[in-house]
Amino acid sequence: MSVWIWMVLGYLCGSIPFGLLLGWARGVDIRRHGSGNIGATNAGRVLGRRMGLICFGLDLAKGLLPVLAFSLLGEREAGFWGALSGMGVAVSAMAGHILPVWLKFKGGKGVATGLGVMLGLWPVVTLPAVVAGVAWVGVTWFWGYVSLGSVVAAGLLPVLAVASGVSQGLSASEIGVYGVVTGALGVMVIVRHKGNMARIRSGTEPRVGWSRRGER
Ligand code: G3P
Repeated sequence: MSVWIWMVLGYLCGSIPFGLLLGWARGVDIRRHGSGNIGATNAGRVLGRRMGLICFGLDLAKGLLPVLAFSLLGEREAGFWGALSGMGVAVSAMAGHILPVWLKFKGGKGVATGLGVMLGLWPVVTLPAVVAGVAWVGVTWFWGYVSLGSVVAAGLLPVLAVASGVSQGLSASEIGVYGVVTGALGVMVIVRHKGNMARIRSGTEPRVGWSRRGER
């Protein structure tokens, strides 16, 4: 199957708005509550922590599955083209989540799905994604803002991906692909959090209940 078909499948998978669907199942449109985002954080805020965790798992899986399936079944080549095609499927799944055609291109911020696609890019980006994920949890726990954790993780990932490529002895072109694409995705995630950063500065961004500050 051609990489283009994998990219379309990646987009379709990424475009399933789980947060919205979980809300609808409870008779709530989460776009009208909390931050208005369709991601796991707002699902947790509006529908409760359990639903937030379910949404997080589903959003992560819809990024992980297409990338993993492409690597395992799509005969992903080694080297530069393998890196580029893997990233192509990853970016498509992210695009599906952030710009879903079904919601007039008004999707989520790409954090859980981004973590999923990066975990699927074995072996180069998997460990960096785990480390960025740990940093995300740590920053969120310490300061209480999921959005701050997301921005820090998004900024950290390209640096870690390049370091991982260098330590695995990849060619400069392969490292370039991983660095540039994770960097571009990181910038996209950070830009999507502009409103959250403004709310943190003005003191109106809500903290999560499981942080050391313990507010909601
Ligand atoms: O994953 C998105 C998170 O970083 C922020 O979500 O709902 O607070 O804008 P939210």
